[in-house]
Parts: sequence; structure tokens; C-alpha cells
Amino acid sequence: MKLVFYGAGNMAQAIFTGIINSNNLDPNDIYLTNKSNEAALKDFAEKLGVNYSYDDEALLKDADYVFLGTKPHDFEALADRIKDSITDSNRFISIMAGLSIDYIREQLNTNNPLARIMPNTNAQVGHSVTGISFSNNFGPKAKDEVNELINAFGSVIEVSEDHLHQVTAITGSGPAFLYHVFEQYVKAGTQLGLEKDQVEESIRNLIIGTSKMIERSDLSMEQLRKNITSKGGTTQAGLDALSQYDLVAVFEDCLSAAVNRSVELSNTDD
Ligand SMILES: NC(=O)c1ccc[n+]([C@@H]2O[C@H](COP(=O)([O-])OP(=O)(O)OC[C@H]3O[C@@H](n4cnc5c(N)ncnc54)[C@H](OP(=O)(O)O)[C@@H]3O)[C@@H](O)[C@H]2O)c1
Repeated sequence: MKLVFYGAGNMAQAIFTGIINSNNLDPNDIYLTNKSNEAALKDFAEKLGVNYSYDDEALLKDADYVFLGTKPHDFEALADRIKDSITDSNRFISIMAGLSIDYIREQLNTNNPLARIMPNTNAQVGHSVTGISFSNNFGPKAKDEVNELINAFGSVIEVSEDHLHQVTAITGSGPAFLYHVFEQYVKAGTQLGLEKDQVEESIRNLIIGTSKMIERSDLSMEQLRKNITSKGGTTQAGLDALSQYDLVAVFEDCLSAAVNRSVELSNTDD
């Protein structure tokens, strides 16, 4: 299976590192290209042991999957660059936020199968939650192949294209929302009199440990919480204080704002 990646920036590097480390693909079948920063491209390709090139005809010839990984505002230039070199074997996978399947195909002047994915930065540690939508002509075997590629850097959830806005909010921006919550927890913790460094280190380990519990347990988060909450105990006291605030409404506001912004961005050219 030949893979080509247009754009070798932050997200591309996270995704490719996962795909290569999964050992399912021969690095000789993977090709990277970017706009003009050849030193960075060469460095990255050599680090991963994959090929790099600026020859679009050679890159796209017999390529099974072509990742589109530029910033959305650079896509028109990329489309101009490659549209005359596209071949029938090429299926496209766009990681560009906000650009619709119809728009991308129109710019590329092709009806070849195209998938849109919305990964998050946890791809760097192999734990992206990636939303995916496929064009109607993406066959079942190809879908399985793409899902397998994505599983190399995390988990995948298939949604209709309209619902990619929700995925963008919940898991695309999700790491930032959780970091923000953790930051407030650290701030509150340091007000209890312990050293700031001690609190930060403790909370870092608390988050890692809690994530591992969620990962390894079959129990729901609700049940995990109940298991450590004794009636009349300290945890119950803290939870009673928390339940005075409508946290669901707080997160509804947060997620709605992110969904609305995603919709707005997809309706503009920037
Ligand atoms: N970062 C995230 O958390 C995240 C999450 C989900 C989705 N995304 C999406 O991922 C995409 C890439 O984001 P990023 O943060 O990885 O961007 P980035 O670090 O700025 O990388 C962009 C890459 O695109 C290349 N490029 C630009 N124009 C090109 C062209 N005409 N032909 C070939 N390559 C071209 C650049 O090459 P040069 O270096 O030579 O200019 C660079 O390698 C965006 O569309 C974004 O919406 C990002």
C-alpha cells in the first residue's frame, strides 16, 4: 500500500510517527512532501526512514492513499499543484479542519473517494480520538484500510460529515478543555498551603493514574466514582460542594461555543 502525505507539519508528524511505529507498513512505501522547507522535510523523512520528493507525478502514480495535511488556507495552492497529476488509484484523506468533502473534490477536480478526519494532538502519544467521514464512493475494503491506518495513532469514530463539528468540539479541542480544568484544580490545590511544585507533580500523577484506571477498568466513570465515595466521608463532602454548580451547563456552553466556531470557520475562506 503506497501512502503519500502532502504537508509534513505538526499533525502530519504525529500521525506518521504512529503509522510507522505500528509496523504494519513498509517505510519504503511512504512518501512525504511539503511546500518548500526541504531541510525540515529531509530531516523528518530521514528520522522516520521514509521517502520524500517534490515530484507530484511520481508521488501520485499508484498512490493508494493521499493525505492532505496543509493548513486550510494553503489548500487552494496545493490543489493547483496536484490536480493534473491525480490518478484513478488515489483515495484522499484530508486532515484539514473545516474544508468539506465537496469543496476539496471541486478544487482537486476529481470524484475520487475522499475521507475527512479530525484527529487531536494526543496522536503524538498514540491516543488520538479521530472522527472520520467518508464520501459515498469509499468502498468497504478501503474504509477498513483507513480505519486500520488511523488505529495506529489512536481510536476512530465514524460520523456523518455534519457531525464532524461536534467531534471537533468534543475531542479535537477536548485536550485543551481538560488541560484548562486541570489547571484550575492545580490553582485551587496550591491554595491549601502545600508547595506549588509538589501540588503540580501530585496532580499530574493523579491525572495519569485516573486515566489508567478508566483505561483498564470495565466500570463506568460513574461507578468508579461511587466506588471511592463513602457516605459521610471526605470525598462525599467535596462532591456535595461540587454539585452546587451546574457543571453540565458549564460544559454545554463550552462545547456549543466550539461547535459554533467550527461551523463559522467552515463557512469562511480563512
Ligand atoms: N494541530 C492540531 O491539533 C490539528 C488537529 C486537527 C486537525 N489539524 C489540521 O492539520 C492541518 C495541518 O496542521 P499543522 O498544525 O500540522 O500545520 P503546520 O505544522 O503548519 O504544517 C503545514 C504543512 O503543510 C505544508 N504545505 C503548505 N503548503 C503546501 C503545499 N502547497 N504543498 C505541500 N505542502 C504544503 C507545509 O510545508 P512548509 O513547511 O514547506 O511550508 C507544512 O509541512 C491543518 O489543516 C489543521 O486544520 C490540526
